[in-house]
Amino acid sequence: MNIGIHDLDVATTHYVLKLDSMAEALGVDPAKYQLGLGQDEFSVPAPDEDVVTMGAHAAKRLLDRNDPSKIRMVLFATETGIDQSKAAGVFVHGLLGLPTAVRTVEFKQACYSGTAALQTAVNHVARYPEDQVLVITSDVARYAVDSGGEPTQGAGAVAMLVAADPNLVVIEPQSGVFTADVNDFWRPNDSSTPFVEGKLSLDAYLDATIGAWDDLAARRDLNVSDIHRFMHHQPFTKMARKAHTKLAEHVGVELGSELIEESMTYNRRIGNSYTASLYFGLAAQLHGNEDLAGKRLGLFSYGSGSVAEFFTAVVQPGYTEHLHPETVAESLDSREEITFEQYRDLHNAYVGESENYETATVTDAPFRFTGVTDRVRQYEAR
Ligand code: CAA
Repeated sequence: MNIGIHDLDVATTHYVLKLDSMAEALGVDPAKYQLGLGQDEFSVPAPDEDVVTMGAHAAKRLLDRNDPSKIRMVLFATETGIDQSKAAGVFVHGLLGLPTAVRTVEFKQACYSGTAALQTAVNHVARYPEDQVLVITSDVARYAVDSGGEPTQGAGAVAMLVAADPNLVVIEPQSGVFTADVNDFWRPNDSSTPFVEGKLSLDAYLDATIGAWDDLAARRDLNVSDIHRFMHHQPFTKMARKAHTKLAEHVGVELGSELIEESMTYNRRIGNSYTASLYFGLAAQLHGNEDLAGKRLGLFSYGSGSVAEFFTAVVQPGYTEHLHPETVAESLDSREEITFEQYRDLHNAYVGESENYETATVTDAPFRFTGVTDRVRQYEAR
């Protein structure tokens, strides 16, 4: 049975910061960000936005054109969850008015967990082919000011509907998986920003690329030449280039950079969106000008700590009729540009605690985080 991504949509934040502004304010050569990291700008959440509002917005766009009554499970993947107990997906379930007969759960393993959710969804549909599963990947990548990660921040959500006989891509059976216990990037429960061993994180990512590829190649009769386009996890887009080069060296085959180019266009503008990053890459690839019908895509998913997966997907005939690049363009182009000083003020004003407070009304998106009452996070659907 063919199972995969039937529909896909995205959301991001109200604000955007151009990295040229950050470079000027910090006295850094702008080329370091544009070329060295491969980033142009990043999405910045308003005080009334978070992973729930972005995830619900992306999912609403899907549900407005699909039948919500077929959804049997909501899997919300994030590494910047808003509660230690209650799944962010339960808030989304409520905001979207989904039926009660739905299983809802949150997945976590750094940036990788979106792929765990996607594969779980595929496995569910393999057993219950009439069901559809809503997978939401949503994150706010927020690093300490003046840290190496500060220019690699960002935020966004990608929602995917997983179904039998999908309109967009079929996820092929047998992927390559990899786990190694590495302390390259972690965020303890009492910290709103991660701790990062920058150099180690690059090495851990590249080790995982090779480990996951080798496992895939051992389990399937598959060569890199069988893959038409590659999408690698993009903490910053230059990292995908490094992964691609490393893979080519490892397999001893020249892999041109044009094989990954299209997948980086959205991430250059959104910044890191952790669990959503790979799927913004997939969206960008599908939204490109090239006709990909019948072509195989290779997707590499990485989460620090570290867990990774290399899997493949085959693009379906007629897929272009089911794409909505206009919502991505609208999400990216409608963001309000802020100055470096405004960005820093927002960053410093971040409230991580659960004390009572109200947020100012900024976002014009369909869902708002309105604040905390009696330690309960409050949301509004417009
Ligand atoms: N013009 C052009 N390029 C320049 C330049 C200039 N003027 N100045 C520097 N560069 C280049 C450097 O040569 C370097 O490129 P290469 O790596 O290809 O040599 C690049 O810009 C970055 O320069 P530095 O290494 O000096 O940058 P840094 O030390 O300030 O920080 C970083 C880099 C460690 C990645 C930092 O951004 C960071 O900590 N990021 C967060 C962690 C991260 O994203 N790790 C990636 C793997 S982990 C993962 O993937 C999970 C996840 O999502 C977080």
